[in-house]
Parts: sequence; C-alpha cells; structure tokens
Amino acid sequence: MVAEAAVEFIEDGMIVGLGTGSTACWAIQKIGERVSEGLKIKAVATSKASELLAKELKIPLVDLSDIDHVDLTIDGADEVDPDLNLIKGGGGALLREKMVATASRELIIVVDETKLVEKLGTFPLPVEVVPFGVEFTRRRIEKLGCKTSIRMRNEKDYYQTDNGNYIIDCEFGRIEDPEELNQALNMIPGVVENGLFIKLAARVLAGRKNGEIDIIKRIER
Ligand code: A5P
Repeated sequence: MVAEAAVEFIEDGMIVGLGTGSTACWAIQKIGERVSEGLKIKAVATSKASELLAKELKIPLVDLSDIDHVDLTIDGADEVDPDLNLIKGGGGALLREKMVATASRELIIVVDETKLVEKLGTFPLPVEVVPFGVEFTRRRIEKLGCKTSIRMRNEKDYYQTDNGNYIIDCEFGRIEDPEELNQALNMIPGVVENGLFIKLAARVLAGRKNGEIDIIKRIER
C-alpha cells in the first residue's frame, strides 16, 4: 500500500532509484505496471536482485556511472527516527543504496509503522567491510561500544554483498548521536560504508495497521 502510494510521486521523464528489500519490491512491481501502461522513465537499481526484477518487468535501466543525478528514489528501511534518519542494510544492499540515495534529489522511504522508533539502534546496524583483515576491522568497530557479529550466508560461509564484501552487524542498543557514529565508523580503514542514512530521506510513508498512511516530511534543523 505505501509502496504504491510512493510510486504516485513518479513523473514522466524522471530517473528513478529502485530500492532493495521486500517493501521496495512492491514499489518496483508497481513501477513495472506503470511502465507497461506508458510511463517513460529510466531507473537505477540498488542491488542485483532489484536489477533482475526491473529487467523482468521491462523497466529501462541506466548505470549510475552514466548519470549525474537521480530524480527520485523509493526504498525501504529497517528503522526510522523522528528526524527521518535511518538504519538500512538489513538486506545487505546498504552501499549501493547509500550511493543512489546520495545521488537523489528526493528519497522517499516506505515502511510499516513498526519501523518508526524514538532512537535508532535496536535493529543491529549493518556495516559493510572489506574481507581483508575482517576480524581486525571488527575489533576496531567494537571499540565504538557495540557487540558485533559477521553476517553468515550459511553455517560456515560469510554472507557476501553484491560488491564482494562482508557485513558486520553491530548491536549498539541505542544510538544517541547517529551523525557522529556515521563519521566514526567510516573513518575506520576497512569499513566501506555503514547503514546509517543521515538527513537523506525527504519523506517517509508509513503504513498503519488500520490501513492509513502517514506521510512524514523531514524538517531541516
Ligand atoms: C536492504 O539492504 C535494506 O536497506 C532494506 O531497504 C531494508 O532492510 C528494508 O527491507 P524490508 O522492506 O524488506 O523490511
């Protein structure tokens, strides 16, 4: 429902960022429907999975390398705070998602109400790291005050992102200063990117159990 509502913001001629995850998937389906009805857009995918789905639905794709900006991106999130800062990366696509979000003039986040939190951090923060020296990087991250686990694909193999990297999930419990933590994490050599999206979302569409949709706009502070 929220994904369909977000797709209403798409207009002819736009370059659209396609998010990743179960909620973003609904948006991509709806975009595919509108493209088959004549909507003229180009899209940039934030993961191999979303790219595959877009191809199946015949949504024309472009490479981020070949464009200067994205008009509008629709993506999901794992947590959203009252300032519309986010935790993303539960599905492992945080790096491409952050690159596309940063390139976007507008980022619309689609969630259900359970993802709205007072403080970020109950959901373990995903951090994408290079495989080289992963345990070293992990210890450096733990010094910032969290418990960590390296995400697994199965009992013995690490999960690998679309970029060939690993994910360290970090339990901070409650993140008092997301902006500071975002910077501290990205200063650690070996960290490629983390799942904190600060001041990137312009609006959040949150679906309520009663079928209503809350539209929350970010207020500049
Ligand atoms: C993908 O890496 C994530 O950032 C997703 O956008 C996020 O995990 C939300 O996914 P769901 O819509 O599946 O909950």
